[in-house]
Amino acid sequence: MSEDRGKRQHRPKRAAGGSETTARARGAGGDRARGPGGDRARGAGGERARADERPRGGAGGERVRTNERARTDEGVEAEPLEEEAALGVVGASPPPRRRSLTNVGGEIETSGEAATAQILAHAIDVAPSMDEGADDRAHVHGFHAYPARAHPVTARRLVEALVPRGGTVLDPFCGSGTVVIEAMLAGRAAIGSDLNPIAVMLARAKTYPRTPEKTKALVDAARGVAEHAEARRKAKAGASRRLPQEDVSLFPPHVLLELDGLRSGIDAAAPELRPDLSLVLSSILVKLSPRRGDTSEEQTDKRVAAGYASRLFVRKTEELARRFDDFAMLLRNEARAASAPSDADATSAADATTGAEPDAASGARPPSAGERARVRVWEDDANVLKRVADASVDAVITSPPYVATYDYLQHHELRMRWLGLDPRKLARGEIGARRRYERLSPRDAVASWEHELAKLFHSLARVMKPGAPLVLLIADSAAGRGPGGDRAEPIRADEVVARVAGRGRELVPVARASQPRPHFHGPTQRAFEGRPRFEHALLLRRA
Ligand SMILES: C[S@@+](CC[C@H](N)C(=O)[O-])C[C@H]1O[C@@H](n2cnc3c(N)ncnc32)[C@H](O)[C@@H]1O
Repeated sequence: MSEDRGKRQHRPKRAAGGSETTARARGAGGDRARGPGGDRARGAGGERARADERPRGGAGGERVRTNERARTDEGVEAEPLEEEAALGVVGASPPPRRRSLTNVGGEIETSGEAATAQILAHAIDVAPSMDEGADDRAHVHGFHAYPARAHPVTARRLVEALVPRGGTVLDPFCGSGTVVIEAMLAGRAAIGSDLNPIAVMLARAKTYPRTPEKTKALVDAARGVAEHAEARRKAKAGASRRLPQEDVSLFPPHVLLELDGLRSGIDAAAPELRPDLSLVLSSILVKLSPRRGDTSEEQTDKRVAAGYASRLFVRKTEELARRFDDFAMLLRNEARAASAPSDADATSAADATTGAEPDAASGARPPSAGERARVRVWEDDANVLKRVADASVDAVITSPPYVATYDYLQHHELRMRWLGLDPRKLARGEIGARRRYERLSPRDAVASWEHELAKLFHSLARVMKPGAPLVLLIADSAAGRGPGGDRAEPIRADEVVARVAGRGRELVPVARASQPRPHFHGPTQRAFEGRPRFEHALLLRRA
């Protein structure tokens, strides 16, 4: 913990787990990291950003424009602000902008086994353009905000480099499903699990390819739901049920009643369409509330025009339908481009299969079962993994929570309430949750995080085949203010991981690639005493 990270950038260091080399790399997208030992590649960021490290504006009574809020969701949902202005959010002001928050990459330093470190460096060496919807990653990834999403390009590169064809990759913190989706596109079998029911619902929906008929039916249903809500609004029908006090306090009355109208319309829709329609509702909830974003309790001055909620609901469904169509097309093209699927893929593809027939006219039909790798998504605790057999997965690629940074229970309470999802398992089992760490002293916070990681590593080791890689995409953070508001303790993720793995001996650190991230947040900056914090790709192998 005592190492001066700023200095480390300029001097070789033994990697955790017996490394041979240290390299720095600089570059931007496309400029590939070359070898270790002085070779360089330039990096430009992953998508993850810390909730508490974003620049904040508008506090203290200052009016905050709606498009300011749009910059704060670090799930980096590309928000159609121009549409919002046109549709009636008073106060939304131009210019519209799409922004990925952590396109701030710099030098990538690597250490450990050279070839592996290069794989990791290349994976996190991601150009800004890749996450701005300019390429084929725009499809389902961008539909719904999710705090600390992994970068799709990083996920894809890791899957291709580390998961053999016909092999299975596990993401036990799958969140919005980035790794699972990229595995699917790369023709690898994948298991995604998470303890957050919003994550499971989202990742499931995104990995279930639809035919154009199904996406059209979805849009038709959304229009029906919006008409239902509008009819209630115009008839001044009032609430369809007793509304929770939290929502009465949060939303302006007319917005709350319109949302309630949408909810009751969804409940009356065909059962097979309800999950997608519910996710659309989820995707607009925070936008229509005064909250700045998922990860912020701060409120802004948003005035929402009458009828806007229903119009936005239809627009978001149309957008989702387009994304589903694009994804189906991409999946089919990738399946075609890939070599013939293995028998294992072909026989196990049923889970994610729609059973749909080709749509010759559009060419957007999802690939058939035989063309597609098996993908399964379910709710589970990463410390348990009850549905994953011993020594069964070929690789684990995952981004666990950053300790003491996020609180997924709190971030998604509103969404879970509106979607009727049960938060209790997440409340009990969420690891690294800020709500718990902010009560601990710095010393206890570090001990607690090490304990949580030790349990996690033991659970992951059980399901990994001998020699299988585990990649952790994880960042440095600061934890533990203590009762007296002490200075938080800097937690260097690579060091903690190496220390915990060293004790358990089931996982052996092999290599890492690390890229600096800025400090936006005073307490973290103080904890690091001005030294940079890093985002890491750490690779460990099952002993
Ligand atoms: C950094 S996010 C993962 C984001 C994901 N890679 C993506 O691209 O969307 C960490 C995730 O860990 C989940 N989580 C926290 N504790 C968990 C636990 N004990 N078991 C499973 N998931 C957990 C959270 O719900 C959250 O989705």
